[in-house]
Amino acid sequence: MARITYVEFNGTAHSVEVANGVSLMEGAISNGVPGIDGDCGGNAACATCHVYVDGAWTGKTGTPNEMEDAMLDLADGKRDNSRLACQILASDDLDGLVIEMPETQH
Ligand code: FES
Repeated sequence: MARITYVEFNGTAHSVEVANGVSLMEGAISNGVPGIDGDCGGNAACATCHVYVDGAWTGKTGTPNEMEDAMLDLADGKRDNSRLACQILASDDLDGLVIEMPETQH
């Protein structure tokens, strides 16, 4: 279980618990957190679950693989710390993680 804080572009924060093995995209959708769409259902094929991960956490969240990085190229506002939330699975190690959302997913 990990407590994840999702911060909307306008600064509104939503702190929710996400079960281990559940993606951070699913964790947002199932908890009604706005700002993450997840149109492709978690297949790294839509980039509507684009988030920014604080650099201090990349050792635990990992970094995008080639396919994820290519999909992120299609997202508005890609940064060095961009990730697809569907490609990060919750675990005890991610307890306390804060992720920020871009202005738009489309
Ligand atoms: S849900 Fe489509 S890329 Fe993550």
